[in-house]
Amino acid sequence: MSEKHQTALIAQQVDALLYHETHNVSNLANAAALLKDSLPNISWAGFYLYDQEQNDLYLGPFAGKVACMHIALGKGVCGTAFSTQQTQIVPDVHQFAGHIACDSATNSEMVVPLIKKGQPIGVLDLDSLEFDRFSPKDQNDLEEFAHALVAHLTI
Ligand code: SME
Repeated sequence: MSEKHQTALIAQQVDALLYHETHNVSNLANAAALLKDSLPNISWAGFYLYDQEQNDLYLGPFAGKVACMHIALGKGVCGTAFSTQQTQIVPDVHQFAGHIACDSATNSEMVVPLIKKGQPIGVLDLDSLEFDRFSPKDQNDLEEFAHALVAHLTI
């Protein structure tokens, strides 16, 4: 199967994988594993979730190296995606002012906000060691993935 098809199918795959499953941690953990396994050249795939009491983002389930535990709203690529509710594609993280480097080997990143009932509940974060890894088509497919995933969350 071509790389193109793998990415396009990923929203349907997460929908099937999480069918009738209701535990948020399990669902996010398997969603992260699915992303890391299915998408080529991804070094880290995971989630940061909104903490209402602290008013920041905390580390959720992920696949990859250990990562920073808290991100302030509006900070880094993740905080920016959350606050603007807009997907961020960063072709070269070294050129992104305020990028939070959890793994110094990361070169590009895409962050998709998770929106439930019009409110941001967290973000999906993908990192790559490749520069310019993420295309507008990836954005489209991963936004579809995020939409499918959120339907399986009770956060
Ligand atoms: N680079 C992110 C931080 C999270 S790690 O990449 C896992 C950022 O700038 O928000």
